[in-house]
Amino acid sequence: MQTTQFKNRRKQFFCEIPHGVAIIPAGSAAENRLYPNSDFIYLTGLEEFDCVALLSTARKKPQYILFWKESDEKQKIWEGARMTIKEVKEASGADRVFPLDKLTQQLAEYFTGAETLYYTLNIDQNLDRLVLQSRDSLLKQKYMPTIAPATIGELGLVMEKLRVHKEKEEIAAIRQAVDITAEAYARAMREAKPGVYEYEIEALVSYVFRRAGCLGSSFPPIVASGANATVLHYKHNNRRMAQGDLLLLDVGAKYHNYCADVTRTWPLSGKFTPPQKAVYQAVLAAQKAVIAQIKPGVEVQAFHHQAIFLLTTSLVELGLLQGKVDELIEQKAYEKFYMHKTGHFLGIDVHDLGGFFLQGNTRRFEPGMVVTVEPGLYIRPGTEGVPPQFAWIGVRIEDDILVTAEGCEVLTDKIPKEVEALEELLACGRV
Ligand code: GLY
Ligand code: MN
Ligand code: MN
Repeated sequence: MQTTQFKNRRKQFFCEIPHGVAIIPAGSAAENRLYPNSDFIYLTGLEEFDCVALLSTARKKPQYILFWKESDEKQKIWEGARMTIKEVKEASGADRVFPLDKLTQQLAEYFTGAETLYYTLNIDQNLDRLVLQSRDSLLKQKYMPTIAPATIGELGLVMEKLRVHKEKEEIAAIRQAVDITAEAYARAMREAKPGVYEYEIEALVSYVFRRAGCLGSSFPPIVASGANATVLHYKHNNRRMAQGDLLLLDVGAKYHNYCADVTRTWPLSGKFTPPQKAVYQAVLAAQKAVIAQIKPGVEVQAFHHQAIFLLTTSLVELGLLQGKVDELIEQKAYEKFYMHKTGHFLGIDVHDLGGFFLQGNTRRFEPGMVVTVEPGLYIRPGTEGVPPQFAWIGVRIEDDILVTAEGCEVLTDKIPKEVEALEELLACGRV
């Protein structure tokens, strides 16, 4: 597991933190987190909780230190044994591994000589206190020639710089996550029918993921049928699906720590009704147009603005909004039907590091970035001017996109989304 990949990442990281010391906690299993902190996984390759990494360039040679909680006899019985310090040293390639309860004592030692402390505040308040107290006590040493980290640097910005471009091993893992997610879709499209409960599809998807050796899901699966499709983060998944429903399925496998994140919406009876089809085609057209624009050099935020323009134009054509497109955009009238962003970066975290801006500077697409494109329309009755035939229609279509040197590659293109392809596929096995 300790391939040169992680060593190279740490080497890059060290270059980003001259005369600095960084503290990267894995997080604690007791916090009910699903997965350890992604920065920790990225730099160490360890998929373990209750561990803290310290990386320092304060001394002549960069140092990689771990603080590891060994299991006591009781934990061995109840939870199984964790690696010993010796085993962690071997598995991690760390220069030194200390017991976790030596952290306080060692922080003072390792902070000495560092000019900047790289750390993310406000995630673990106990650790915040410990780290800040150690720094404070060094800063107060007025009668010793101590260099203490006078500056606090934002670890997240350093991590974003490294993580926003995916290495080939990372892209390979995302491709695997996508393939497994595609299998889940193939099965879900066969099994989801009127009379089936949403949780049956959730169970099927989870089965496909775990059976393929995934850690699990990238995020809680959204199996939203009928009116539930208009609830953005629907998670009950407990409705019995009915004739005439659309099913919005938003799921993604997490494979070797990397996420897929895919949404498809399809008619359970096998055929879209005319109003469902009109809304679906509006979303599909916007999604395809946005994807077609993605290439190196294009501003990342442009894809959101383009989706808003196209969806607003369609909302006027459908009679869901009245007025001039530019004025409706100005007034944000589309937010009644389209209230989320058009996509996000994808990686170890489903909403991975990266965004429209970096420290106020507009971010542009570059080769190696992976993003989702996921426009949607959600039509809730009672919203002013909604013709009754559109009530409770919710559609989202989401693909995972790799930016390449020439343009982009739709990693999820094997999961059908064209109206004809879906209706043809769904016709098999339906009356
Ligand atoms: N499923 C979470 C998202 O699409 O962002
Ligand atoms: Mn997404
Ligand atoms: Mn999603």
